[in-house]
Amino acid sequence: MSSTPLSPSQTPSDDQFSDNVLRPSSFDQYIGQDNIKKNLSILIGAAKARGHAPEHVLFYGPPGLGKTTLAHVIAKEVGANLKVTSGPSIERVGDLAAVLTNLQPGDMLFIDEIHRLNKAIEEVLYPVMETGKLDIMIGKGPSARTIQLDLPPFTLLGATTRFGMVSSPLRSRFSGGTFRLDFYTDEEIEDILARSAQLLAIEMPREQLPRIRSRSRNTPRIANYLLRRVRDYAQMHERELDPATIEEAFNLLGLDEHGLSKSDIAIVKAIQEKFSGGPVGIKNLAAATGEDEGTIEDVIEPYLIQLGFIERTPRGRTLSEKGRRYLSQYES
Ligand SMILES: Nc1ncnc2c1ncn2[C@@H]1O[C@H](COP(=O)(O)OP(=O)(O)OP(=O)(O)O)[C@@H](O)[C@H]1O
Ligand SMILES: [Mg+2]
Repeated sequence: MSSTPLSPSQTPSDDQFSDNVLRPSSFDQYIGQDNIKKNLSILIGAAKARGHAPEHVLFYGPPGLGKTTLAHVIAKEVGANLKVTSGPSIERVGDLAAVLTNLQPGDMLFIDEIHRLNKAIEEVLYPVMETGKLDIMIGKGPSARTIQLDLPPFTLLGATTRFGMVSSPLRSRFSGGTFRLDFYTDEEIEDILARSAQLLAIEMPREQLPRIRSRSRNTPRIANYLLRRVRDYAQMHERELDPATIEEAFNLLGLDEHGLSKSDIAIVKAIQEKFSGGPVGIKNLAAATGEDEGTIEDVIEPYLIQLGFIERTPRGRTLSEKGRRYLSQYES
């Protein structure tokens, strides 16, 4: 990952305390993503009424938008026990079997970064997701045989930032649905900030919230992160959270008025200066900027697209008119 403090998947460890305080634990506290919440309520409610575990659900979208939080909220709403694991930590079929055979009836299993499951594991998972039966091969060579275990009914919740890397057979087995989390609206981010300020006992006048929101990339994790940084800055300088203090804090963090950092701006500049506005493929863009491909695709690019600064075409990324205008402020 890049070293920018905004890399939303890197939460500094000294902020873990406030992360726990701020994480919503019910649909009511979970702000925004209304359409997803409505669909999930129906899925959960109907399953409950039939006395079944809800069907398997997949969440995808850029980091920090609330996928993990949503998994915890669902489990809480259902009253289910949530077991948590991730694609990279299931290396062998045996690891998966161990996780699955430890499930109790009605449990929910959250697999984060599900795009990183390897092929062999995915293939074991297909029948599990379809029929609740786990086929395990015992032994090798001519004496090898398969045994089949009946698993207790459970719900698989998958999350990924890279939907394109989830194989289509795996995608199609999320029978409860596949949900894309979107960037939050300005109003939703301000509501999240107001809630967080209250929980952290930060005195933040509502009219100052847009200053933080506008740098948040419309992402809850970043909004909360910036709120804490601004609070720290004011505290260390014994100042109120007034406009001047907030602007100074952001200058120190190296964020422009859109919340873009130097590495974001470098990407936009590279498309303009090194590739004459594009189209440019991700590999070339990564090579030209020294930025990791995954970081560009997962973290940097989605928000630049949301801002309308760059566009994704089948032939690569291009700079938009809006992006060009944005860059003109750096020309002297
Ligand atoms: N809808 C929401 N309402 C209020 N706060 C939220 C919401 N969604 C997320 N948050 C806050 O943002 C933080 C980050 O969310 P979360 O960890 O669920 O993101 P994620 O999508 O799982 O990210 P990653 O892809 O990096 O794993 C949470 O700890 C929570 O405090
Ligand atoms: Mg997560």
